[in-house]
This record gives sequence, structure tokens and C-alpha cells, in this order.
Amino acid sequence: MKNPVHVAVTGAAGQIGYSLLVRIASGQLLGPDQPVVLRLIEIEPAMGALEGVVMELQDCAFPLLKGIVPTCDLAEGFNNASWAMLVGSVPRKAGMERKDLLGINGKIFTSQGKAIQENAASDIRTLVVGNPCNTNCLIAMNNAPDIPKDRWFAMTKLDENRAKTQLAIKAGVDTTEVKNLAIWGNHSSTMYPNYFDATIGGKAATDVITDEAWYKDDFIPTVQQRGAAIIKARGLSSAASAANAAIDTVANIVRKTPSDDVFSVAICSQGEYGIEPGLMYSYPMKSDGEKLSVVEGIELNAFSKEKVVATENELKEEKAMVADLLP
Ligand code: NAD
Ligand code: LMR
Repeated sequence: MKNPVHVAVTGAAGQIGYSLLVRIASGQLLGPDQPVVLRLIEIEPAMGALEGVVMELQDCAFPLLKGIVPTCDLAEGFNNASWAMLVGSVPRKAGMERKDLLGINGKIFTSQGKAIQENAASDIRTLVVGNPCNTNCLIAMNNAPDIPKDRWFAMTKLDENRAKTQLAIKAGVDTTEVKNLAIWGNHSSTMYPNYFDATIGGKAATDVITDEAWYKDDFIPTVQQRGAAIIKARGLSSAASAANAAIDTVANIVRKTPSDDVFSVAICSQGEYGIEPGLMYSYPMKSDGEKLSVVEGIELNAFSKEKVVATENELKEEKAMVADLLP
């Protein structure tokens, strides 16, 4: 039996937490032979609700769940964690953009970054889900300067999954037929799902779905506005699909990427494709199971270049908005 891996989850009593925790505890995050200890971090007013979540987790009798630590103390919460999933933060309401949350949520990530650096295990990796996730991750990463920058991730996998499904529906194929579809840039309404590189059934997507106007007038806006559409329909932001994407992201990071596919996650840019170094920018990525790399050599046409820069510019604006939170 392997030693348990400690997984810290913030916002554990929230909507996403409710979907995410059972999946981690049942082995879907780190595999069916990997025991886990869940370190559940909440704010004081939510500790009562968290108690209920803990009771439910206990009532599942998950064979892989070797401990649960509910806490509102960051040092205890991140102690010995090898994965930190930073979900806890306020979701937007209808009519807001995600970056409108920076004033409320940004500061959460200064103390969490510091607490991760001081308390987590030496192999800690952090995935930020709480919005605006790219810039919240930038804040946490910059408040934890001793942790290597390649251990910080912000989630754009949900956007990739949304985009793949839209292409599959349009082409009338199974979602598994759609590959090589990456989200570039920010998890926001400027994100760019680069369909020019995507494949459907092994062929270029643009040879299968040839209607150029559909991509520009339907596909891109649908993917960019999907979060808002869900908030409008549910009165609440996406939760099950967000938790699912968080599980997918970690699986993509820790497993070798198939040769005919890529995945999307925002990482600390080192200037790839001319993007400003240091921004948390989503790229087409590959993993060898240990290390990640940005896919090189993608030819961006004029349309793609414009989109890739527009979403970079928004990330620069967000960075400027939180300058006082970046030491
Ligand atoms: P929710 O309001 O249901 O839950 C958030 C939880 O976070 C609450 O229980 C709250 O008490 C807790 N919390 C608040 N501040 C905290 C702090 N400082 N430390 C620890 N916990 C804290 O919201 P939700 O639906 O679970 O969404 C959480 C976040 O995830 C939101 O910001 C939302 O916009 C974002 N989100 C991101 C994606 C993505 O693709 N990146 C997708 C969906 C949702
Ligand atoms: C989403 O994409 O569903 C989340 O980021 C929630 C939101 O605010 O749209």
C-alpha cells in the first residue's frame, strides 16, 4: 500500500467542493491505488457546512480515504500537502466579468501563497480554480517565491472540454474524436480556442467543419460565454463540470499525453509565442508524466495572432490591477 498523498482543497464547503471531494476521495484524482488525506480549508462562517460535508465523506466509506482534516487555519490546511486545489473564492453573478472579482478575491491568494510555501510538502503543485483563476494564481505564485514557477497552474481545461464538445456536436461525432484543441490565454471572455490546429477523426477540423462563419460567429462566442450562459440558466456558476475539469487537469499533468493530442492549462509563461514572461497564460501543453512542455512550432495565422495577443493584453491589465498584491 502506498503512503497517502495529502490533497488540500480550499472552498471545500462550496458548490465545486461538493462535486470535487467525492471524486478525489474515490481515487479519480490520483488513481485507484493511491490513498489520500483530504485537508479541507474553509473560512470560519462555513465551518458548520463543512462539518456536514465531512460527515458525508465519512458516510461513503471510501477505501482510499485515509484521513480528513477540516480547518480554517491555513498552516494546518496546507501542512504536508502535495497538491493544493485553490477553489475557495466568490463566484461572479450574472452581468459580471470574472476580472470584476479581483477586488474581492485577489487578496485571498496572497496569504494562501505564503501558507503554501511555508507548510506544504516539497513536491507541492497548485491548481487555481477560483476566479479570475489566471491572475489569482499569479498572485499566489508571486507570494511563494521559493516554490518553482513550474508548479503553479490555473484551470482552462473546462473551456477545452466545452470547445471539444461544441466541435463534436457540429461534426456529429463522439467527443473522443476531437483532439488537439487548446485554449490560449485567459479563462475569460477573451480566451481563444484555436480551432485551426484541432483535429476531428484525425483530419483538420477546418476540413471537416468547413463553415468559417460558424467558427467565428458561433463556436468562439459560445465557448467564451459558456460560463455566463450557465450562470444565466442555473442562477449559479458551473460546479459539476468545473470539478470534472479540475480532475481532468491533474490527470493531464501527471500522465503522459497521447501523441495525437494536447491539453490546456495556464502556466507561468517563459515568453513562448511572444507572450510576456511571468503571466499565467494557457497554452497547448504536453506532459511526459513528470514534466510539462508548451507545444512548439504552431503556426498562428493573422486571425489567431490577433486573438492570442488580445487575451494576453487582458492578462497584462489584470496584472496591473493587482500590482499591490505582487511583492
Ligand atoms: P461557492 O460560493 O459555492 O463556494 C466557494 C466556497 O469558498 C465557499 O464555501 C466559501 O466559504 C469559500 N471561501 C471563500 N473565501 C475563502 C477563503 N479565503 N478560504 C477558503 N475558502 C473560502 O463557489 P463555487 O461555485 O464553488 O466556485 C468557487 C470559485 O470557482 C468561484 O470563484 C468560481 O467563479 C470559480 N470557478 C472557476 C472555474 C474555472 O474554470 N476556472 C469554473 C467554475 C467556477
Ligand atoms: C465557468 O467558466 O463556468 C466559471 O469560470 C464560472 C464563471 O464565472 O463563468
